[in-house]
Amino acid sequence: MTATPRGGTPRNPERATDGPIVARFAQLLGTPLLPWQRLVADVAGEIDPDTGTYYYDTVILSTPRQCGKSTLVDAVDTRNAQWGPDRFIYYLAQTGKDAGDHFKKYLKTLQASPLAAITSRPYMAHGSEAQPFLNGSIIMPKSVTKVAGHGVQGDKITLDEAFSLSEETGNTILDGFMPTMATRLKATGVQPQLWITSTEGTAESTFFNKRLDSCRAGEQSRRTCWFDFGLPADADPEDLDAIMRHHPAAGLLWDKSQLIDFREQFRDNPAGWARAFGNRRDEGITDRVIDEATWAATATAPVAPADLDNRPVVFGVAVDVDSTYTSISAGISNPDGTVTTQLLKILDGTGYAPTELSRLCAAYGAPVVIDSRGTAADLSDRLHHMTDHNGDPIITFVDMDAADYLTAGQSYVSGLVNGAILHAADPDLDASAANSARKWAGDAWRVSRRGSTGLTSPLESCMLAAWGASHRPEEAGPLQIY
Ligand SMILES: Nc1ncnc2c1ncn2[C@@H]1O[C@H](COP(=O)(O)OP(=O)(O)OP(=O)(O)O)[C@@H](O)[C@H]1O
Ligand SMILES: [Mg+2]
Repeated sequence: MTATPRGGTPRNPERATDGPIVARFAQLLGTPLLPWQRLVADVAGEIDPDTGTYYYDTVILSTPRQCGKSTLVDAVDTRNAQWGPDRFIYYLAQTGKDAGDHFKKYLKTLQASPLAAITSRPYMAHGSEAQPFLNGSIIMPKSVTKVAGHGVQGDKITLDEAFSLSEETGNTILDGFMPTMATRLKATGVQPQLWITSTEGTAESTFFNKRLDSCRAGEQSRRTCWFDFGLPADADPEDLDAIMRHHPAAGLLWDKSQLIDFREQFRDNPAGWARAFGNRRDEGITDRVIDEATWAATATAPVAPADLDNRPVVFGVAVDVDSTYTSISAGISNPDGTVTTQLLKILDGTGYAPTELSRLCAAYGAPVVIDSRGTAADLSDRLHHMTDHNGDPIITFVDMDAADYLTAGQSYVSGLVNGAILHAADPDLDASAANSARKWAGDAWRVSRRGSTGLTSPLESCMLAAWGASHRPEEAGPLQIY
């Protein structure tokens, strides 16, 4: 009995494959391939009849924990080292310790196997561990952080546990590797391969999620093959029989009585369990910016423009990640000293924002608060350079520096808690408050744009508007009526 994948690239029987050779190496290493490992080896090892080398340049593999991912990578790497002389093979894990621990286990297996005869003496110096082979090829474990600044040039690299990478860190590594692939192909005649392997992560796993999601949408390159094992969407992770059916190592590396013990280890963590053994992404917000009770207790009625009664207004402006939306909120200073924050607009992209803000600022005689870094940097720059026909600035600003920006979220939350700040009831703002997660830096936090599960700009624009209302310069006071 072997689990069928949730999705992925089927074997193309018209192409020859290097899979059987990988299987032979796995056998020699004492870990004969499990059926799912063999499927991956066979597809990833397909040979392009036009070139005589690997058809695929990229392999994306997602499975639950304790499946045999890393062990499969070892068998493939050992085989890859024998495609020709002087090949460079990297195994990358999140930390040097992860990579090093895995490497030590591999060395033990390798040195105890008949393949020891084709190896040279391994290097064990911390940080430069390596296993060279008699043909000059070499397998090297590295930490992602160490490699990120330099890039790797090689014939095969594996990013194991890729869920731990942010889009940015993952891309720095690829930026170093991808351009050298063509050069290595030319020099060696063998198509270099990138393997990205992992169990599903969380909303913060921006590197892996993006790649997996594009495979699921059928948008991967034709040179990418992928494999996705785990519980289907309609199955219940608490149903251990369902886990047994869909985990491709169930009954092979462990049995149901051990699965019951595994479940016990995740007693208070159902989301962690569903992730580890069902390969379900953990989408939950673990650390909401504003707790539900506080948020519910601080709602107030929206203020209509006609009811402003010359109350001073400030506009907060925030932009979502990848510039998808721009939100504009008003911070209204009430006569009793409180501030009402009110979401006014969520605009598509950033293109409509300058016109809309010019209109609002003119109509209410109000300044703007915007972060001049981060996702709003480009819009901020454009707003600051807008001038009227006399060359005078159209918009005035409440200046905010980086340190101010870091305090805006915290002071918003404490303002809500102590009754100094209210928010005008709005379903889009409610959704933003429910979906915005915190990202900590030491003792301070800010809204995590990548770690959140919805738009953050509505809530962020309110935070900025509230900050602006308590930092507005004197001269930008209430609109004066003479
Ligand atoms: N084909 C095999 N034959 C025998 N044992 C295997 C095989 N594949 C993996 N194993 C063993 O199963 C265990 C889990 O394998 P491995 O660490 O490769 O899984 P993994 O999917 O990388 O797990 P994790 O998600 O925890 O990193 C290890 O003890 C490994 O030696
Ligand atoms: Mg592993």
